[in-house]
Amino acid sequence: MTVLVSATDLLFERPGGFALSVPSLAIEAGEAVAVLGASGTGKSTLLDLVGGVLRPTSGALALFGHDVAQLSNSALDRLRGDHVGVIFQEHNLLPFATVRQNVALGVQFSAARRRHLRATALEDEIERLLDAMDLDAAELLRRPAHTLSVGQRQRVAAARALLGAPSLIIADEPTSALDEGNQTRFLALLQEARKASGAALLFVTHDPRLTNGFDQVITLDTPSLEGKGL
Ligand SMILES: Nc1ncnc2c1ncn2[C@@H]1O[C@H](COP(=O)(O)OP(=O)(O)OP(=O)(O)O)[C@@H](O)[C@H]1O
Ligand SMILES: [Mg+2]
Repeated sequence: MTVLVSATDLLFERPGGFALSVPSLAIEAGEAVAVLGASGTGKSTLLDLVGGVLRPTSGALALFGHDVAQLSNSALDRLRGDHVGVIFQEHNLLPFATVRQNVALGVQFSAARRRHLRATALEDEIERLLDAMDLDAAELLRRPAHTLSVGQRQRVAAARALLGAPSLIIADEPTSALDEGNQTRFLALLQEARKASGAALLFVTHDPRLTNGFDQVITLDTPSLEGKGL
């Protein structure tokens, strides 16, 4: 089994005193990993480390077969573009670009992901992914993104993240703006679509009920106040 992400004794410290410590982490190809924890425990920070947006203060971190410490910033950016599809909490889409243009952005920064599409035509693949996320491509393709509902926008963002078959989808509370029924539905569609493309998933949520069906659940604890005189 290919290991996509592996970390040992990972430490990330911010100047303000926040520290995230991850003794060990491994994400294998095709695995689904949930990250749980209260606000401020470092969930987004962990995703930025795994996504190669932040570098660890100390410890070993390997992403997609490369030791992060050995990579230049531009090499790290390229690695992220080739291997990672990202779904944010909100504001995922360019509001005045069409749904089709927004999804096509998924391969904008990666020649490897564009090459992957050569076998399938780009337009067919965009429509297939919209369909997989239960969106009516015929109705929505030419619509500007700002005319969609929040739930539809998040499903378009998922289609964009999956375009060009990246090996890992990183999603930071993509369901927090959705009502409960739509949260479950979004996650079920995302799980099915990313399994079909063989991608692993790293998914942050506040809600333990959403972690059913994940292979690993990482719980981040509130940073200890002991020893700080509080
Ligand atoms: N860009 C930044 N500069 C300085 N401190 C930051 C920055 N981003 C986050 N922090 C701090 O780092 C800590 C962890 O933040 P992080 O965003 O990882 O938490 P989180 O678990 O994702 O929280 P939430 O559930 O609210 O999104 C917090 O104390 C936060 O204030
Ligand atoms: Mg966060």
